[in-house]
Amino acid sequence: MARERWASRTGIILAVAGSAVGLGNFLRFPVQAAQNGGGAFMIPYIIALLLLGIPLCWVEWTMGRAAGGRGHGSGPGILNMFWDHKISRYMGALGIFIPFMIYIYYVYIESWCLAFAWFSLTGSLDESATAGEAGAFLSAYQGLAENQWFTGLSVAYIFFLITFVVNFAVIYRGLSRGIEIISKIAMPILAILGVVIMVRVLTLGTPDPANPDWNINGGMGFMWNPDFSALTSAKVWLAAAGQIFFTTSVGLGLIITYSSYLKKDDDVALSGLTSVSINEFMEVIIGASIAIPAAFIFFGPVGITDIANGGSFNLGFVTMPMVFNKMPLSQILAFMWFFLLFLAGVTSSISMLQPGIAFMEDELQYSRKKSVAILGGLTFIGSQPAIFFIDKGVLDLMDFWAGTFAIVLFATCEVIIFAWVFGIEKGFTAMHEGADIRVPSFFKFIIKYVTPTYLITILLVWVWQDAANFIPKPSDENFGYAIATLAGMLGVIGFLIVAIEKAYKRGAFDKGKIV
Ligand code: ALA
Repeated sequence: MARERWASRTGIILAVAGSAVGLGNFLRFPVQAAQNGGGAFMIPYIIALLLLGIPLCWVEWTMGRAAGGRGHGSGPGILNMFWDHKISRYMGALGIFIPFMIYIYYVYIESWCLAFAWFSLTGSLDESATAGEAGAFLSAYQGLAENQWFTGLSVAYIFFLITFVVNFAVIYRGLSRGIEIISKIAMPILAILGVVIMVRVLTLGTPDPANPDWNINGGMGFMWNPDFSALTSAKVWLAAAGQIFFTTSVGLGLIITYSSYLKKDDDVALSGLTSVSINEFMEVIIGASIAIPAAFIFFGPVGITDIANGGSFNLGFVTMPMVFNKMPLSQILAFMWFFLLFLAGVTSSISMLQPGIAFMEDELQYSRKKSVAILGGLTFIGSQPAIFFIDKGVLDLMDFWAGTFAIVLFATCEVIIFAWVFGIEKGFTAMHEGADIRVPSFFKFIIKYVTPTYLITILLVWVWQDAANFIPKPSDENFGYAIATLAGMLGVIGFLIVAIEKAYKRGAFDKGKIV
């Protein structure tokens, strides 16, 4: 079975950018920035972009393209091509585990965006005008309360099903007819929606004469005035690094899979940099100019920090509708906001499905139909706890172990295999095959020494300061749910190891090694 290929260069760049630009840019980033002191956050953020995000992006594009040429498009096969050792295949399993786990909760949150876009159009969201009402609307939608808006999860479940089917319909159509087409359509629309909402927010001036300091300048200052004293806080550095991983999609196993469908001499150096740049434009220019300034001018600096600390989704789903409510054409603006989130979400979540599909197609020689059916069944089952046990800490556990810790672990494996086992000189040569730009030579030093040291430090600090909070204790209120969630995650890893062994036995990993 011949492997698929991207139909155009714009297609792959927009697909990788689509994978990167997601809920992370518009929901997670503003919350992280507000929780970590606005401007204080941006210095470690930019450092993490330069020392982790961009170098790892080049590493992933290079590894993916090289291994794809030998028929491997997912973590186990790709890492094994660069390090011919059994352990590399198991390390590579993380490149399927992470996107699988993130998908099962990400797709549910993405479905809220579709639902809220619909509620904005039909006007039902408009009825929840105060903070209390908007909060109650969201809680009832999530099945955490019953009120005049919702009395159960049925509406949320319908939107979940629609979103789930949309994702698999795209994946079923394949790379060039599915992922590439949707990325080419969604990304420009998303950019236009983002710019329109940004311009609207930035022209709001000082809407509340009683609070003259609550104006756009103040909002932008909150986001951008650096606070050097915060640089001594480990928490801010970890949050910034975590955001860079999540937003650029490096370490998630996605870029290596997408780039495995490139041709041998397709450029990776410029394409990789372009996709990261598009993501950063959508995050620090557009994402940063919407939710933070909008919330700042209506709720002030203390209010915005409280909103961010009150829960990850408050800013996007509670505060933003209230902000729109205070403007003319509120329904249209709210619709644009939630539809933007939905489009950003879809182009990311489809990329989380492709590593699993690539593994089954490349290593187990399953047909697309069979691969889609298996992954569809497994992710559908996996999503149920995220929907029904949302108040039991299930999402937090998955988000820490799969959506934060495992990502950095996987990135560490990748960069060490690339720079130390395979060798940075050979790696750099591979990166420049067909390249349209030269990556400055000092990146050899960064990729070999700085990036791995940075990653290992993050891992150690997490283990030392955070991991204990995410290991269930019998005294925890939701101990049973936590154990079940961890057991489920270990089950997924076990399942993957069995599948990798099966592929190994049928000789999947014997295809010519990269030398
Ligand atoms: N990179 C994706 C996002 O930002 C996962 O949402």
